[in-house]
Amino acid sequence: MKKLYAILGITMLMSVAANAQETTWSGNIRDIVERKCNSCHGAESAPEYQLFKREKDTWLAKGQGMRMDSYSHLVSFVGWPNTGALMRRLDDGKSSKEGKAGNMHQYLGATEEERQKNLTIFKAWVGNWSLKRWPDSTKEELNGIKVKY
Ligand code: HEC
Repeated sequence: MKKLYAILGITMLMSVAANAQETTWSGNIRDIVERKCNSCHGAESAPEYQLFKREKDTWLAKGQGMRMDSYSHLVSFVGWPNTGALMRRLDDGKSSKEGKAGNMHQYLGATEEERQKNLTIFKAWVGNWSLKRWPDSTKEELNGIKVKY
């Protein structure tokens, strides 16, 4: 009996550890998006992506990005239709051929330390960190996308 309790205890500890490691929208990403992205991508003022594209110059003149503040909105910039957009924009240059950071990388934090910390969290959430667009992506690369809620 003692042995059984010990096994149960270990199994429970292991599942707690596994949950603690999992990076999710609700547990990790939403908070970063609220603090770092929603001033330009929030629901109050940011348009849907298709509306943004239709009147791009007007929105850009206001310094306004497209809506990205919900789970559903954000994953469309990871998987489809805007495959890899989030990765291309947030990357620090290490995953790109040209070695150039994406233009949203700067918003990940005020210091290099903070930017790297938040980039690591985004990478863990996305899973397969590929900068490729839909036509260039392999099925394996797409299957590697995690984006847990
Ligand atoms: C100061 C305003 C501002 C902040 C803060 C900001 N963005 Fe943006 N973002 C923009 C604007 C404006 C665009 C559209 C122009 C462009 O494509 O660069 C954009 C475009 C994007 C795109 C490209 C979408 C596409 O496929 O065309 C992504 C992805 C993105 N932002 C993600 C983020 C994330 C994630 C954060 C927070 C870490 C963030 N942005 C913070 C203003 C901002």
